[in-house]
Amino acid sequence: MLTLEEIFPPFALSIAAGPVELRVLRDEDLPELVELVRGGVEAPGLPMPFLRAWHQETFAPGAPEGFPTSSLRWWWTQRATVAADQWCLTLVVRRDGVLVGMQDLHADDFALTRTVHTGSWLGRHHQGVGTGTLMRRLVVGFAFDELGAQACESGYVVGNHASAAVSRKVGYVENGRRRMVQHARDGKVGVDEQRVIVTPETFVRAGDPVTVEGAEALRRFLSIDPAPVT
Ligand SMILES: CC(C)(COP(=O)(O)OP(=O)(O)OC[C@H]1O[C@@H](n2cnc3c(N)ncnc32)[C@H](O)[C@@H]1OP(=O)(O)O)[C@@H](O)C(=O)NCCC(=O)NCCS
Repeated sequence: MLTLEEIFPPFALSIAAGPVELRVLRDEDLPELVELVRGGVEAPGLPMPFLRAWHQETFAPGAPEGFPTSSLRWWWTQRATVAADQWCLTLVVRRDGVLVGMQDLHADDFALTRTVHTGSWLGRHHQGVGTGTLMRRLVVGFAFDELGAQACESGYVVGNHASAAVSRKVGYVENGRRRMVQHARDGKVGVDEQRVIVTPETFVRAGDPVTVEGAEALRRFLSIDPAPVT
């Protein structure tokens, strides 16, 4: 019988260094993930970091609306709609085996753009010990080394000093500002987003040795030729 990883290669992916490992979200992760979100995500004193305040929805397990069902829809959709020209890997982050956050890696028309985008968060009790920097270094290094990306883009709400610091430490440079609309708990608000971009030339790698498993099967699955386009 085939294994789950042979049936759906994203499940075989593992990117690890030191105490931190990234793997694609599985249903078995959900109880830990829901508990983590319930414990709080936002860093005190920093702006709401997301486009939509999914983490502040009413906690209503077992109900069709509220958290976690609304977020399950999003996570399962990313898995169900994965395609060579539009994919999003929702990676759970474990530190010493404990689920501490998520690191997304997504791309549209990657074969033509060679550009990936990232988004990430940690449970508030797991912030400030270097995990945010390491997980971003892992996913950016993976995109450059294993997928042949030429640029990784990200962005943060102006005033999110933690995210700005991670971007700076990973080697991102500023890439313009844009006005965007956030769907906050009390309705829509306009905020400024700082866009940032990192390329192989500016990237600051993880200090620990990095181990990657399952990259070849994933490249086949997503029709990715890692050789850079000329
Ligand atoms: C942003 C986030 C992922 C950073 O991860 P982290 O593990 O807390 O960050 P690190 O421990 O790797 O620290 C990276 C830098 O940020 C700085 N930093 C961390 N928290 C900070 C805070 N609340 N205010 C200011 N700087 C902060 C650290 O001092 C460190 O810089 P230094 O090494 O120069 O001192 C995490 O704080 C988080 O999940 N925040 C809530 C969600 C979020 O903002 N996501 C990003 C959306 S763009």
